[in-house]
Amino acid sequence: MAIFCQSPLNLNLNLITSSRKPNPNPSFRLNLSAHSRTLVTEPPPVFTCVKSFAPATVANLGPGFDFLGCAVDGIGDYVTLRVDPDVYPGEVSISDISGAGKKLNKNPLWNCAGIAAISVMKMLNIRSVGLSLSLQKGLPLGSGLGSSAASAAAAAVAVNELFGRPLGASDLVLAGLESESKVSGYHADNVAPAIMGGFVLIRSYDPLELIQLKFPHEKELFFVLVNPEFEAPTKKMREALPQQITMSHHVWNCSQAGALVAAVLQGDLSVLGKALSSDKIVEPRRAPLIPGMEGVKKAAMEAGAFGCTISGAGPTAVAVTDNEEKGREIGQRMVEAFLKEGNLKSSTMVKKLDRVGARLVSSDPR
Ligand code: HSE
Repeated sequence: MAIFCQSPLNLNLNLITSSRKPNPNPSFRLNLSAHSRTLVTEPPPVFTCVKSFAPATVANLGPGFDFLGCAVDGIGDYVTLRVDPDVYPGEVSISDISGAGKKLNKNPLWNCAGIAAISVMKMLNIRSVGLSLSLQKGLPLGSGLGSSAASAAAAAVAVNELFGRPLGASDLVLAGLESESKVSGYHADNVAPAIMGGFVLIRSYDPLELIQLKFPHEKELFFVLVNPEFEAPTKKMREALPQQITMSHHVWNCSQAGALVAAVLQGDLSVLGKALSSDKIVEPRRAPLIPGMEGVKKAAMEAGAFGCTISGAGPTAVAVTDNEEKGREIGQRMVEAFLKEGNLKSSTMVKKLDRVGARLVSSDPR
């Protein structure tokens, strides 16, 4: 049986219901004395090369600032990871970054994928092999679609898979959280759903407790994502947050977040949309910083969306609907509003919920 040592975060993993279960028969022992969750004996690689994918995510979902998020299907980042005798044992080297990430730093200590990969290598106590990592960015940077989290999630999963999947989802989320805290802030509402798929509630950060919220399979849910040509760095958007809030806003936002969770579990899009649209604390501070956002939300609602808000820290706007064709019409109205009200060009896509999360795409055996 795998026994993990106590980390400074005093991990509580009981609430995780991820499909990504750790390998039940690891052929190595775990350290009971170190400060972090590391293995005493490092596992050998079970593949020479793996390729992983992690999906885009919508964080906050309106009133769920820093504690609610979900994964969206069909867009995301890929990581290819190989055992590389030219890389110093125990280290990771970033060999290539392609796609939308040309600006990114190739130093693994300053790269989301690199930081998460190193974190998982440390948990696994990898000292005998070096790894080279290639990152294929499918997500635009600073878009509000969880770009940094997708890179971190894909990298964390790739390292775990390469060594036989000894770690569970919560450890991978911790590795992703280490990466997120260095690049955009200490929040897991992108990286947890990127790793676990579906809707995820972060009930606690210390100890980390994640609750997966199952949206009913038989219900239709489409996300209309409209991404304007505008940069909204998460760090800057976090600086816009209020330092204090009123008790009435606290009560309002808590009740909306509760309603949102109930609506997800019941598959009630009408309530989900109303709750998603109802944040009185964060969205009112951020929307004015994204040209046209208020008009875009209005246009989405007038076109029949159940709800609309800022995706993560923005600038992407997200609306929800139960029909794909309708989603395309709503998206078109939102694109027009970004141009008319904000003088911003934008692109739209309609996506389903990703229920799987970060995953292995291919592997080469040893
Ligand atoms: N919860 C984070 C924020 C998500 O809104 O700042 C960033 O994508």
